[in-house]
Amino acid sequence: MTSSDPTTPVPATPEAPEAPVERIRLRAALDALPAYIPGRPPADDGVHRFKVSSNESHLPPLPAVREALLGAIDGLNRYPDMAGAALREALGAEHGVDPSRIALSTGSVAVTGDLVRALVDPGDEVVYAWRSFEAYPILVGTHGGTSVRVPLTDRLAHDLDAMAAAVTDRTRLVILCTPNNPTGPALSGAQIEDFLGRVPEDVVVAIDEAYREFVDPERRPDTAAILAAHPNVVLLRTFSKVQGIAGLRIGYAVAHPRLARALSQVTVPFGAGTLAQAAALACLTPASREELDRRTAAVRAERTRVLAGLEAQGWELPDSQGNFVYLPLGTRSGEFTRFADARGLVVRGYGDDGVRVTIAEPEASDRFLAIAGEWIGA
Ligand SMILES: Cc1ncc(COP(=O)(O)O)c(C=O)c1O
Repeated sequence: MTSSDPTTPVPATPEAPEAPVERIRLRAALDALPAYIPGRPPADDGVHRFKVSSNESHLPPLPAVREALLGAIDGLNRYPDMAGAALREALGAEHGVDPSRIALSTGSVAVTGDLVRALVDPGDEVVYAWRSFEAYPILVGTHGGTSVRVPLTDRLAHDLDAMAAAVTDRTRLVILCTPNNPTGPALSGAQIEDFLGRVPEDVVVAIDEAYREFVDPERRPDTAAILAAHPNVVLLRTFSKVQGIAGLRIGYAVAHPRLARALSQVTVPFGAGTLAQAAALACLTPASREELDRRTAAVRAERTRVLAGLEAQGWELPDSQGNFVYLPLGTRSGEFTRFADARGLVVRGYGDDGVRVTIAEPEASDRFLAIAGEWIGA
């Protein structure tokens, strides 16, 4: 007779003993962490919805990526090249730096976590703007650091004066997110240079450029020159946005060789997998770059159309340079999110701050403009 036999008498236990798992001591920091809320997938209720909640590319990966993935499958019994030599070589050439300055990981969010792990001891401070990318507080908190969040300006851009003033002798890392996710404004090269002049040279300044290619070309800061002039600068880049391989998880840092080595010391071993490396390499060929430039230009043009349409409806918006626009709806953000969802558009609400909408196919933009017009007219 087994204990699952329904005829087995179950001994009465007036008070169930505490399960051993309840006695496991999880770090107290976990209780204070905000949850990362991913863009919601569309509900499965028969309504056709556009998912514009995660700043992804709405286009499938390039044919060259598909081909590279198929070509790499047969080698999957082997571990990936842990050094990512071919990809680092290609990225070094792309950025005009030695490959020793490139550090890879499973997305730039992971590289940002590696930076925190390499730099921050318990109680050390990490300064960043808020609201910004919601992974920052989680990455800092899980690694024992203290977040110093500096409120955005009235125009929802980084307040660089306040950020410089927030740097103390406990600060190990400052993160500049440009364009800022979710609000959209981008920093100019002059603003970044001026800021760097006010931050001690032993404080690392990471420039998170996840959306760099969406910035109007004439407004893109020359971060390669900034990096060359400032050894404390780290550029964070991803293949998840323009290149459209978010599902493969690959991103990288460009940094001083000492910092790049530190990142490779703390990163998860073999994190950047064989398929991710092969796909990333396929995105860097001249033909792929040409196609990606075309795609990015189309997103910028669509963003201009959407912003103009919204402004004509009477919306006052921040100057978005990303593949998204932001409606500063304050306490009505949740209501707008539900309003849009009911009309077939899955957008991303941020508490009582605002709503972010990714620029995707023109049909999604048309629906967004119709919904925004209905909302503002109501
Ligand atoms: C500002 C910013 N940095 C980094 C990332 C993460 O990119 P990855 O997919 O490479 O981790 C995102 C993704 O949304 C982002 O918005």
